Amino acid sequence: VPPRPALKLRHVQACLLHQVEYTSRTTGFERYDVPYVALPETDLAHVDTRTTFLGRDVQAPVLIGAMTGGMELGATINRNLAIAAQRLGLGLMLGSQRVMVEHPAALDSFKVRHHAPDVLLIGNLGLAQLNRGYTSIHARRVVEAVGADALAFHTNPLQEAVQAGGDGDFAGLVDRLAQLTAEVPFPVMLKEVGHGLGAAAAERLIGVPLAALDVAGAGGTSWARVEQYVAYGEVRNPQLAEWGIPTAQALQEVQRVLPTTPLVASGGIRTGVDAAKALALGASMVAVALPLLEPATRSVDAVVSWLENFLWELRVTMHCSGAARLADLRVEYRNRPAPAA
Ligand code: FNR
Repeated sequence: VPPRPALKLRHVQACLLHQVEYTSRTTGFERYDVPYVALPETDLAHVDTRTTFLGRDVQAPVLIGAMTGGMELGATINRNLAIAAQRLGLGLMLGSQRVMVEHPAALDSFKVRHHAPDVLLIGNLGLAQLNRGYTSIHARRVVEAVGADALAFHTNPLQEAVQAGGDGDFAGLVDRLAQLTAEVPFPVMLKEVGHGLGAAAAERLIGVPLAALDVAGAGGTSWARVEQYVAYGEVRNPQLAEWGIPTAQALQEVQRVLPTTPLVASGGIRTGVDAAKALALGASMVAVALPLLEPATRSVDAVVSWLENFLWELRVTMHCSGAARLADLRVEYRNRPAPAA
């Protein structure tokens, strides 16, 4: 088992070098359509994508997904993502901060608040760590060390199961999460890593005072696939790599069980059209991870340019479906559900 910073680097390298997305399973968004309106009462120049999430204003309902930190390349990636988030007024989720708890030298790679003073910044820890001695003290420490507004825990039983030396013990974690959430002064959310939170997980979360959930469903990056590349240099078990709840389905399952919890749709969100569909189906925000990784290794401008195109697609989709603001997108959709293609 490699030391934590080395493992983080291998994850990033695997994502840059290999095809790490699902090959057969899709998000399911291709089965939906935002209704096209040939006579919208909107002006493209004035389509308004602003919203608030976890108490912070954002210019659009878009989060840069949780990715990395902990090594030199991680510092570059986080800096470029943070400056891009600040320029565009989007939210930023940091990668797992476990590496910085265990290797204090890794802290600097997560310190991006000075680059992004106004953005919604979300810290990150693994839920399984709550069975490995992590408590609300660690949660407070990682949030305070980087000046985050909130903390996301990732639950990833399939990733851990496939990872050499990964954590297999997920027993009792919902109770620990509920207790921790009540003990900390900031909002706590729970996310998957691309295999999806569905109805069964949501039912276990009833009564847990989480501020939001990110379904992180199947159809984009498969962490059971990434871990196989890291462990063997190849995919030895494609069935495990292809397993998960498609993002569109995950979103609707969780919404049915927890109708008042704000939801982030992620996992395979690749275009502003995907984003519009997710928002129309009830997501409060979307998050994008993998497509921003390679640009983030290059420059701020590369990240900004990818995101600007994505935001333009979202605005065009809103305009041409007659939605002047995000709420309209949702109502329009509700009134006229799209036929399944
Ligand atoms: C991730 N992801 C992730 N999630 C998390 O909660 N903590 C983490 O440390 C990481 N690390 C990480 C590294 C890299 C390089 C990638 C690409 C992704 C998972 C990520 O946040 C997201 O849930 C999934 O990648 C699915 O979204 P995409 O990639 O399909 O947009």
